[in-house]
Amino acid sequence: MDSIKVTGGAELNGIIPISGAKNAALPLMIASLLTDETLTLSNVPRLRDVAQLMQILSNHGVDYSVNGKRTGQDDLAGQTLNLTAREIVDTTAPYELVSKMRASFWVVGPLIARMHEARVSLPGGCAIGTRPVDFFIQGLEALGADIEIEGGYVVVKAPGGLIGGRVEFPRVSVGATHTIMMAATLAKGETEIVNAAREPEVVDLARCLKAMGAKIEGEGTSTIRIQGVPRLHGAHHAVVPDRIETGTYAMAVAITGGDVLLQGARTDLLESALDTLRQTGAEITATDEGLKVYRNGNGIQPADVTTEPFPGFPTDLQAQFMALMTKAGGKSRITETIFENRFMHVQELARLGAQIAIDGRTATVEGVSTLRGAPVMATDLRASVSLVIAGLAAEGETTVSRVYHLDRGFERLEDKLTRCGAQIQRISG
Ligand code: EPZ
Repeated sequence: MDSIKVTGGAELNGIIPISGAKNAALPLMIASLLTDETLTLSNVPRLRDVAQLMQILSNHGVDYSVNGKRTGQDDLAGQTLNLTAREIVDTTAPYELVSKMRASFWVVGPLIARMHEARVSLPGGCAIGTRPVDFFIQGLEALGADIEIEGGYVVVKAPGGLIGGRVEFPRVSVGATHTIMMAATLAKGETEIVNAAREPEVVDLARCLKAMGAKIEGEGTSTIRIQGVPRLHGAHHAVVPDRIETGTYAMAVAITGGDVLLQGARTDLLESALDTLRQTGAEITATDEGLKVYRNGNGIQPADVTTEPFPGFPTDLQAQFMALMTKAGGKSRITETIFENRFMHVQELARLGAQIAIDGRTATVEGVSTLRGAPVMATDLRASVSLVIAGLAAEGETTVSRVYHLDRGFERLEDKLTRCGAQIQRISG
């Protein structure tokens, strides 16, 4: 297994191109199951999760091709995928595939909508928490589906097709919103999703579905209305920039100091996190080209955050923010409300000298003046990158093992950081 070696101490200066969002690309790719025509997605990041989902979709019968390089494109430009589900040959998503990536459970929405049946493995728990699927089941039942759990599989049937209905989620779920929205596009009549997720990735999926002929209103608000149509057609859609990658690099600059343009980033996708970063002393400016992040050598101010659904502070930036706070001039409190077990980076940050105490859902971080490099490892994507951020600001060498987590969600992390002066390299293992 590869690892990443970071030698801390260098400022970051230069340009980092922001990739298309992983968490938008995945549901967009799944939406290709809704039509027998070709869905073309551009600005798709080159990530392990994208490749894994391609394998899962091809098992259902999706053909795909990847466009070659075009004039003027550099090697960090996103890829263009053409996905065609002319015929769905298999409505089962097997355990071996779904267990590798939770988001693949979302195929249940398009499969039941188009094929009137689906058999999808329960995804199981994962490192950040139990992550049940009860909201998906309630939502599909509200659209008239019959659901049984058999041998670890969710077996969904709707012999005459889905019928629009009212779905009210008990709490905000990004995946359940994606799934019910996709399912409702081909249902008969109107569906109303109440307490829908407002995340930019949900808006991006709705835009793509509309380009495919779906009738959707209210995306980006907590009530989404979908008027079912008999069929969807092909479309071209460009994936929205990755707000979590944007926030991650902004936090890296905030901890090392320096001046970086996050090219192609959009401030409206992460206002809350940027406001918090400003409180810590970083200067953030929106430009025509993206987002400029600047921090002079002055100390990092502590700030408190609580993770919340969009537009609140995202759980996917909690670990990175904690890394930044380990070097703040004072105490900060970080409360995680989305996942019950998302503090696994704490013990690893402690190996670098961070002082963090956990009490239930809240971590109290007492900033230290010096972090010292050490071998560390993490069990999920965002936790891994928080260790890279801390390593960039630590004295000496930090080796982050289990890099495959990073490859799931950060496109060419070490190349992007090296271009800005970081001393970071991948060691093949
Ligand atoms: C999406 O996961 C993201 N994944 C996650 O990003 C992100 O952390 C999360 O949303 C929250 O923003 C992708 O987009 C691929 P949820 P998702 O359903 O949809 C509970 C990353 O690092 N819940 O919004 O799976 C659930 O347990 C990943 O890129 C139920 O109780 O998250 C959680 O506590 C990790 N029952 C809360 O809702 C259900 O049926 C929110 O989860 C569904 C969810």
